[in-house]
Amino acid sequence: MSQSESQHAESHNIENMLHEERLFPVPKAFKPQVSFKSEEEYLAAWNHAKDAPAEFWGQIAKENLVWETPFETVMQGDMPETKWFQGGKLNASVQCVDKHIGTARQNKAAIIWEGEPGDVRVLRYQDLYREVCKFANVLKTLGVQMGDRVTIYMPMVPELVIATLACARIGATHSIIFGGFSADAIADRNNDAKAKLIITADAGWRRGKEVSLKKTVDESLAKAVTVEKVVVYRRTGCDVEMVPDRDYWWHELMAKAQAECEPTPLDSEHPLFILYTSGSTGKPKGVLHSTAGYCLGAAMTSKWVFDIADTDTYWCTADVGWITGHSYVVYGPLSQGASILMYEGAPNWPDEGRFWQLIEKYRVSIFYTAPTAIRSFMKSGDQWPQQYDLSSLRLLGTVGEPINPKAWMWYHTIIGGERCPIVDTWWQTETGGIMLSPLPGVTATKPGSCTKPLPGVVPAIMSEEGEPLGDNEGGLLVMTQPWPHMLRTLYGDHERFKETYFSKIPGLYFAGDGARRDQDGYFWILGRVDDVLNVSGHRLSTMEVESALVSHPSVAEAAVVGFPHDLKGEGICCFVTVNTSTANPGEDLKKELINHVRKQIGALATPDQVRFAAALPKTRSGKIMRRLLRDIAAGKETIGDTTTLEDYNVVAKLRTEDE
Ligand code: PRX
Repeated sequence: MSQSESQHAESHNIENMLHEERLFPVPKAFKPQVSFKSEEEYLAAWNHAKDAPAEFWGQIAKENLVWETPFETVMQGDMPETKWFQGGKLNASVQCVDKHIGTARQNKAAIIWEGEPGDVRVLRYQDLYREVCKFANVLKTLGVQMGDRVTIYMPMVPELVIATLACARIGATHSIIFGGFSADAIADRNNDAKAKLIITADAGWRRGKEVSLKKTVDESLAKAVTVEKVVVYRRTGCDVEMVPDRDYWWHELMAKAQAECEPTPLDSEHPLFILYTSGSTGKPKGVLHSTAGYCLGAAMTSKWVFDIADTDTYWCTADVGWITGHSYVVYGPLSQGASILMYEGAPNWPDEGRFWQLIEKYRVSIFYTAPTAIRSFMKSGDQWPQQYDLSSLRLLGTVGEPINPKAWMWYHTIIGGERCPIVDTWWQTETGGIMLSPLPGVTATKPGSCTKPLPGVVPAIMSEEGEPLGDNEGGLLVMTQPWPHMLRTLYGDHERFKETYFSKIPGLYFAGDGARRDQDGYFWILGRVDDVLNVSGHRLSTMEVESALVSHPSVAEAAVVGFPHDLKGEGICCFVTVNTSTANPGEDLKKELINHVRKQIGALATPDQVRFAAALPKTRSGKIMRRLLRDIAAGKETIGDTTTLEDYNVVAKLRTEDE
């Protein structure tokens, strides 16, 4: 079974067709350096956190975060309003840089960066400290104050990390937008966050081409009224238009900036960042994270799951524009004093061996990537990784979607040489950090299972009615206890926050995944149970794509569903009915609609299929029957109850159009 086969199983009775029995003991060669050393240690911590969460988290928060003012209480109030570490003051940038200054790490590489064309830069912790301080001063001189929102829209260059930490240093809440999003998507996010300033670059390199970012920002600014200033980092040197008194060059501002900037002491609950993600409605949600709780979660999960030691070269391939990049490129590994590898470009540029070549070149020891990438490497053939020396690797990780056992086995044998544990990490933008994952050197693994909860995470599998389910029964995955790094709200919409995550099973956290727990206590994620697609490990709501489609003048109605896709996990299939004025819709209109969606949302939302239909199948109450459409898109026979279908002929017609 691929993960998509079980995905979207409608509601309570979640089908589960994966029967994976293999159990891989911890590879003998792997010795945990800084993380848990044994199952007993892990269990003791897990039970401690479950039975006495305030004591558990209080102790590790004291030991693992640098506090300007110590906190008075650990946790106050029930989910979802739990407040953490009240009375405490701290700064997130201190946890990532200042902490290492004056220690043996100050001359250690913080960021080893390689651009797509092959240019290399290394920033030691001292260099990162200086750059962060300088850019924090730049932000101040541009009028940014504590509590302001700053948008960052940049390629994967060290300045992206610098800008992020500089915002944190002065208490400005950052909102990072992935560089693949369109001008409209940027404008929507800027308006929702009421961002004051945006940091961007002229362009970035991707598959040998310059992807212009400044131009997209310019276009977005026509619709974003709150943004007053733009800072532009010169990456490729391409021509850009600079608007006087609005646009400023990064290098010019930095040349004049002071090298010291005191970090602003911030309340534990101070909003560190907003990150927009898709939900089951068309409007992206601004997931808001706190300072202390988030930093603690990023730090502890990096330590427990990635076992980052000072000798490691750590590489998380995610873009900082996603939550994985926030937690496991920036805040987590830097808090551990890691040497991180950061790569600007595409994995298959100039050829399919680029990632493996980088691992060999920098002796990467911890490698964290997405199943979609693993599947595409697998497809391009073993000859690519086999050309390179991957013996430096000691730990592998995956995130973003369920990894199918075949891809897991390939990762294990071809990349890990059967000696590296694989940590299959389940978590979400909302959870801030990893929730369920094997602990390397401790947890025996089963291909396709994210295994067990980390300390402080108390999950349950429940029916729609909120009844706990037994072993191997598919149901809703919920969290029964608050954890420090959970989201605090949806920016500007606390009601939607409560409604989205805490109303399905009142009082418990539910963010849309189905799962089962097997007889050994291992968790298996069965995919989303709402209208959220997981395309190449990125979340997109079907409604978002539908809204983009219906905004095209030729479209009357649209229904978007996912279908199993070999590389992306899920592909996007759009069923479209056209306006009466549009005669004979054909290939040209399909292309136009595909481009239209790209322009509205961004390249990641590019539809794989557009199918024109005379009508969409609906229930008598007017609801589009997505289950039917999903079966049609997947090329499966329609099974299940269609008695409520308004017009049986519609399904027959949709099929014919497919043939
Ligand atoms: O469906 C789950 C899937 O990705 C969703 C979260 O998406 P996002 O907030 O974009 O964060 C992705 C990176 C943390 C989840 O609801 N997902 C993530 N990791 C896994 C996963 N599904 C199965 N196994 C995983 N390891």
